Amino acid sequence: MDITRIDPLDVDLDLADRLVAVDRASHEHAGLELPVQSGPSRMFSLQHGNDGRPVDAVWVVGPPEEPVGWGLVELPFLDNRDLARLRAIVSPAHRRAGVGTALLEQMTAFAGERDRTQLTTGAWLGTDGIGFLGARGFGTQGQHQYAVRRLDLHEDPTRWDRLYGEAAAVASGYELVRVAGPADEAMVPDLVALHEAINDAPADDGREPDAWDPDRVRAYDASMARRHQTTHRVLARHSETGEWAGMSLLCVDEFVPTVAFQEDTTVVRAHRGHRLGLLMKCEMLRWLAAERPEVAAADTWNATDNHHMIAVNERLGCRVIATNVGYRRLL
Ligand SMILES: CC(C)(COP(=O)(O)OP(=O)(O)OC[C@H]1O[C@@H](n2cnc3c(N)ncnc32)[C@H](O)[C@@H]1OP(=O)(O)O)[C@@H](O)C(=O)NCCC(=O)NCCS
Repeated sequence: MDITRIDPLDVDLDLADRLVAVDRASHEHAGLELPVQSGPSRMFSLQHGNDGRPVDAVWVVGPPEEPVGWGLVELPFLDNRDLARLRAIVSPAHRRAGVGTALLEQMTAFAGERDRTQLTTGAWLGTDGIGFLGARGFGTQGQHQYAVRRLDLHEDPTRWDRLYGEAAAVASGYELVRVAGPADEAMVPDLVALHEAINDAPADDGREPDAWDPDRVRAYDASMARRHQTTHRVLARHSETGEWAGMSLLCVDEFVPTVAFQEDTTVVRAHRGHRLGLLMKCEMLRWLAAERPEVAAADTWNATDNHHMIAVNERLGCRVIATNVGYRRLL
């Protein structure tokens, strides 16, 4: 079997399109409603990652003109330095012929050589990946399932105004600030605690908290800008003290702006219980309705036991479109 490891920086638009075609065929085969990245989005995400670095390795199976599968490994470098995140995908027409196993062997060796002792990945509930990971020594113990919820932004845009009013009545001591694109340098240190607050969300066994500092905020913003993902942050500030209380962050992929991706929504501990989660999300939706009407839907991932966040999303009118099952294997 022809497996080639390639430098993510050598992935060009043609190859990225072919990798995306494998993903699209896989989603269609599984009947998943999930969005598929465009070729340019895939190329830039492989090359810029989330924290200013390309992903660590990419493999392509079969001829590069017509790959039958591909895989990637990411090695966290700011925290969780014992962990490797894997992703493998095989074209439905070439499954059950050992391609996935061969990819996994390459990825496992790569991670092991770099002293990573935990391999993590995920598969969509009800799809081939579940049987595969079970057969290849991965387990779900201590790992979360993540439901992907979709919100239709065009169905009833008056809904956000209504819910905004409801939340604002409770959160009367707070004001909201909109920040599009990379944050101003003066704001960067304040954003650290708002990003870090995501560590209070349910975490998988074996995961240490994400370590945030000003450089990581800058690197995240710079990566998203290079990936043509426009970040939209809604920040909540306590009016009396001026303290930052919360943040909701959403990315619009400028190559395919129709389905936006909801990143973290956080409220710092001292300011919880004032409906700030609902308020910030409604403000985001009002902002998109006014300035980005081409965004027709927003997808958000929630651990299935993150009850507070799920309650907010259900209130907004989200529906579950797929569930990703987390897996881990210890080396
Ligand atoms: C998961 C995936 C990569 C497997 O690729 P593959 O090339 O079919 O895998 P293999 O042929 O190496 O399968 C190895 C073993 O896994 C198990 N397996 C694979 N698919 C299975 C299924 N649908 N049901 C039950 N067991 C399955 C079997 O034990 C199989 O051995 P066998 O065919 O001799 O019975 C492929 O189904 C895929 O791309 N799925 C979508 C993406 C995904 O879920 N990736 C997993 C997360 S990294």
